[in-house]
Amino acid sequence: MLNGFLKNLKISAKFNILMIIVFIIGSSLSGLALSTVLNQRAETEVVSKATALIQMVESVRGYTQDHVTPLLEQRLETEQRFTPEVVPSFSSREVFDRFRKLEEYKSFAYKDATLNPTNLRDKADSFETQLVNTFQSQPGLQQASGFRNDGGTNLFYIARPLKIKNESCLKCHSTPEVAPKNMIRDYGRDNGFGWQVNSIVAAKVIYVPADEIFASGQRSLSIVMGVVVGIFAIVILAINLLLKKTVIQRIKKIAKTAQRVSVGEMDATFEENSKDEIGVLAAAFNRMKTSFGLAMKFLNEQ
Ligand code: HEC
Repeated sequence: MLNGFLKNLKISAKFNILMIIVFIIGSSLSGLALSTVLNQRAETEVVSKATALIQMVESVRGYTQDHVTPLLEQRLETEQRFTPEVVPSFSSREVFDRFRKLEEYKSFAYKDATLNPTNLRDKADSFETQLVNTFQSQPGLQQASGFRNDGGTNLFYIARPLKIKNESCLKCHSTPEVAPKNMIRDYGRDNGFGWQVNSIVAAKVIYVPADEIFASGQRSLSIVMGVVVGIFAIVILAINLLLKKTVIQRIKKIAKTAQRVSVGEMDATFEENSKDEIGVLAAAFNRMKTSFGLAMKFLNEQ
């Protein structure tokens, strides 16, 4: 049935059907391949950004702990007001807040998501609580990452466990009685106490907005696919034009002349001045017409 259908089609229709099939298959395959590659690239980009940032924040925290805290520690005893600069979590958050002031980083976020935080700003939400619980139940786990949907925006996160490694932390995080007076004055006595050495109290979480990065991949995909469709449209048009000019119109002309010769118009000639296949065909037809004329003449004379 398909064979019969194809047989009855004109040459240009056959060409076009074939080209369109090739185009649809070709462009869907290449679109699929491209979109996979772009998505992978976007994911790698998001992961590497988040990794660099969490590493950076950890360095700030480490620097504060090793170099700033020892310098400022006496102030805790002498000063009226608590000096938050002594707290590694405070400095890492301050540094990150400055970083976020740049327009392109404003949707990035860092949080020491804590189950029982000193500063309620650091309180883990339900998603982060689950992360902390995961780290608590799997002590070997060094890092967790993935996507999180936050009020319609898609965020990629990297989280690392925050473990109390030394006794010095307990000076401020064990009981309100032990903690510096000025700290109690500023932060109250209800939160951020009862922590223990070697327990995981929080998760350090970096959030990187993923939507924009994936959207830019989608934009590249649309541009490339637009170009592919455009090129193909031009190719189809050009092939149609060429087919019409070099094959179809000339064959039609030969058919018309043959039609005239068949009803006895012997002065009709197959006009072709090209040397290609159709030119050869027309020349052969001309010779055939001459032979045919001679034969007719001979028969008439008989
Ligand atoms: C001098 C007191 C002090 C010491 C010592 C201290 N912290 Fe804190 N810590 C604080 C205060 C105050 C905050 C709240 C700072 C803010 O406003 O962000 C805090 C915040 C934190 C937070 C963020 C969650 C929260 O409670 O708001 C973590 C996590 C944390 N500290 C862990 C540690 C660790 C680990 C150590 C030991 C290396 C340590 N702290 C040593 C006083 C201290």
